[in-house]
Amino acid sequence: MNEPVSKKDPSFEITLFTAMDQTGRMRNSQESDRPLWDNNPEIIKELNRIAFRKIILMGRKTYELLLHDATKHVFLNDAAIIFVLTKKRGDELIKKEHTSHVYAINALEGIRNFWWLLEEAFEEKRRQKITACRKVQNDWRKKPETTGTKENSESPMSNPKDKELVEQLEKTIDSIEQEKIPIQPEIVVLGGVSLYQEMIDYATAIYAFLIHAEFTGEEKFPLFFNEQDWEIKGEMDSKEKDSNGYPLFTSITYRRKAQPEKHLPFFRPDLPPLPVEKEKSKK
Ligand SMILES: NC(=O)c1ccc[n+]([C@@H]2O[C@H](COP(=O)([O-])OP(=O)(O)OC[C@H]3O[C@@H](n4cnc5c(N)ncnc54)[C@H](OP(=O)(O)O)[C@@H]3O)[C@@H](O)[C@H]2O)c1
Repeated sequence: MNEPVSKKDPSFEITLFTAMDQTGRMRNSQESDRPLWDNNPEIIKELNRIAFRKIILMGRKTYELLLHDATKHVFLNDAAIIFVLTKKRGDELIKKEHTSHVYAINALEGIRNFWWLLEEAFEEKRRQKITACRKVQNDWRKKPETTGTKENSESPMSNPKDKELVEQLEKTIDSIEQEKIPIQPEIVVLGGVSLYQEMIDYATAIYAFLIHAEFTGEEKFPLFFNEQDWEIKGEMDSKEKDSNGYPLFTSITYRRKAQPEKHLPFFRPDLPPLPVEKEKSKK
């Protein structure tokens, strides 16, 4: 698991979560147009696991496709933040029950700005909690002794219970200082077709579900795999089998071996700027 980052290291993992047939087709024009990962409970379970406390990104059309049965998507409630890319206005698009954690953004930069605000809000809350603890500590230190002898009343902290409380508060302050923002700096892209195209060059990992069926849609997942840049980190057949005992799908996790050459400045500000022109491949 990634450790949440501080403002000094604002880099995000970018992972694509996708389902396709073995030729890379991402749609089945004979069925409803729901995302392919939305059609299988085992894949949705995996999605809910992967999305937990991450940042989710999807295109406007994919968000709208999910709305017909949004209640089954735990990730729509459990994910820390969900961003929907659109040029439309958020108040026209985002369902009322999602407004606390689903946000419409009209450019990818919106994610970074939002993250900054979130960190600032988190820091402010941390400061407030510590100030409140310090105030209680100081009040107890100043408190006149009520249970001790007359001499004790000259030394307010002579009561062991008071001392214990002040020490306990010191430990609480220590643990508040250690608290991290409860969101992983990982953006999980859920599609659709246009978003995978836009994000593939920036992806650091891909969770792909290869469904053992043939789909009829035109659109294919972008070609990306080569052994120089990518490795397979995990491969697993579905628990669910067809009538012949074959798995319905195989999930494969691909990981980029090094940081992507291409990066969006607001996702990888710690990396050097992009070269202006890449050398064309030699003929
Ligand atoms: N196989 C899979 O894993 C999978 C997963 C998800 C979806 N799908 C399939 O993908 C299809 C939907 O894909 P799609 O490409 O048509 O739609 P989409 O990617 O879900 O949404 C496209 C919309 O997102 C907004 N958008 C995209 N990039 C943007 C940017 N840089 N800035 C601002 N807005 C941006 C625009 O919204 P506005 O028009 O509102 O401005 C655009 O029209 C469906 O058939 C679905 O079933 C498949």
